[in-house]
Amino acid sequence: MAKFITFEGVDGAGKSTHVATVAQFLRERGKTVITTREPGGTVLGEKLRELLLHEPMHLETEALLMFASRREHIAQVIAPALARGDWVISDRFTDASFAYQGGGRHLSLDKLRVLEQWVHADLQPDLTLLFDVPLDVARQRLDQTRSLDKFEKEKEDFFTAVRDVYLQRAAQFPERIRVIDSTQPLDAVSRQLEQLIADLCA
Ligand code: TYD
Repeated sequence: MAKFITFEGVDGAGKSTHVATVAQFLRERGKTVITTREPGGTVLGEKLRELLLHEPMHLETEALLMFASRREHIAQVIAPALARGDWVISDRFTDASFAYQGGGRHLSLDKLRVLEQWVHADLQPDLTLLFDVPLDVARQRLDQTRSLDKFEKEKEDFFTAVRDVYLQRAAQFPERIRVIDSTQPLDAVSRQLEQLIADLCA
């Protein structure tokens, strides 16, 4: 059966580097795979992404727009792909809303749970890869040569809270969320991912 895999981690943890690697492992196993991202993944979602990453807004507006983008993404991309039997890899999903809006911005987790229930009561990722590094490493890895978006410009305590919520969720959902030590060399991370994908396909 087709599966839904999400990638998570603080900015600079290195998750995006591995999206193509995991897609390739799956294709080698004969799976049809689509890769997508949040916020975004649809024409409307990419417009919302522009606003979310660059416009100042109330924290609840931010959470609502994240879930609006997600609603569209599920309806147009994720659900149809899974129904066709395609595997879906999304660079971020709802764990990011708990970590960034809940942890970073201190929005009530109960409100986020209401939105989660509203938008995808019967859909959860089959596997979430949480790329984890200490904050100083994440900050160093952010490409300082390009202009940083609204989130990347946040201060250290914001990212400390984001990482804490991610790790709390990993402890809460150990079957679904796998923590990847992203301080390891790239090839060691790749080998670990290959094993996880082999297990998922078994
Ligand atoms: P990111 O995935 O890091 O993209 P890039 O690698 O191109 O910088 O950027 C998305 C940003 O959006 C990231 O800082 C986290 C934030 N975000 C939230 O705050 N809440 C969410 O629900 C999602 C999906 C993302």
